[in-house]
Amino acid sequence: MAKYRIAWMPGDGIGHDVLEAAKIVLDAIELDAEYVPAEVGWTCWEKYRDALPPGTIEILKECDCGLFGAITSRPNVPGYRSPIVRMRILFDLYVNLRPCKAFPGNPLNYRDDIDLVIFRENTEGLYSGIEYRPIPDEIMKLPGMRQVDPNEAAISIRLFTKKGCRRIVKAAFEYAKKHGRKKVTAVHKANVVRETCGMFLEEAREVAAEYPDIAFEEQNVDAVAMWLIKNPQDYDILVTTNLFGDIISDEAAQLIGSLGFGSSGNIGDDFAVFEPTHGSAPKYAGQYKVNPMATLLATRLMFEWLGEEEKARRLEDALSRVIREGKVKTYDMGGSSTTLEVAEEVARVLG
Ligand code: NAI
Ligand code: MG
Repeated sequence: MAKYRIAWMPGDGIGHDVLEAAKIVLDAIELDAEYVPAEVGWTCWEKYRDALPPGTIEILKECDCGLFGAITSRPNVPGYRSPIVRMRILFDLYVNLRPCKAFPGNPLNYRDDIDLVIFRENTEGLYSGIEYRPIPDEIMKLPGMRQVDPNEAAISIRLFTKKGCRRIVKAAFEYAKKHGRKKVTAVHKANVVRETCGMFLEEAREVAAEYPDIAFEEQNVDAVAMWLIKNPQDYDILVTTNLFGDIISDEAAQLIGSLGFGSSGNIGDDFAVFEPTHGSAPKYAGQYKVNPMATLLATRLMFEWLGEEEKARRLEDALSRVIREGKVKTYDMGGSSTTLEVAEEVARVLG
């Protein structure tokens, strides 16, 4: 029996192209794993009216973790729910880990000395899914509620819990400790959104006090958006709430090569799903044109999470070398190599 069972979820569109690339690299590095195919995404929705069918949930429950390609989703489809958001809630994957490291020689780098990691809370905040349109009477009667026409208004509830705030900050500090990082920045807007962001900061300060060797600072999210462009090299670890994290992590990904390089881990206490941050790019589906780097970086995160540190290091070194040498690169990096040629070059360097 293999050491690991990994749920294999290509999803839709280029999700298939990039996971095929990941498989080449996984085989080259000889991870002792069984890959269990699991359906997810728009094709599932069309087949079953369910983008995350029960069979897939069962497979996820039996696996150590999952590797996810990308899915197609469409707005204004009655009954449709995002399978990624559902997985996060179902398996309590409260950490969204997004590293942004500039690999030397990547022509898309904004600067070569960026090496930051974002911890985004993944289960609460403005993405809790508690929303009303029109606004119910009970909410209209709450003290302090502004008297608007409830039929001409909508409300989304930003739910925070002490536990939710504490565990995302704790995850950021634990990561900092493990990887010898020097500083954690809590990103907030507590001067305006006083209760929710206020609670987040209170919890963050308490957790920070448990780690005297790691510097702690607090910054407003709007300032962070600006400083990320001015001095991204000054950041180390950033920890923040769901919506803010979604926005600043896309901004930060742009500094290191955009969608071709953005990887993420959705991590809970005993399960995790790793994915590139890009979508299914339907116009490139099946053409093997897109950059597999984001997915290979997500694979590296998976190794780290599984405790396969040596494989994580080897893969990072191989990716770094392939990027530095610049012989094999996809269109977004100014080359004309295919998705699989990049993976094969990484496999060759690994071997
Ligand atoms: P997208 O990320 O799929 O693609 C936008 C553009 O970025 C592409 O046309 C391509 O030019 C470029 N791009 C994306 N990935 C690339 C790669 N690996 N290498 C090089 N270039 C790359 O975003 P879009 O077009 O807004 O959404 C397409 C579908 O994907 C939609 O249905 C959307 O809902 C879904 N989506 C899914 C996500 C996920 O599965 N996590 C995330 C974002 C969007
Ligand atoms: Mg996003």
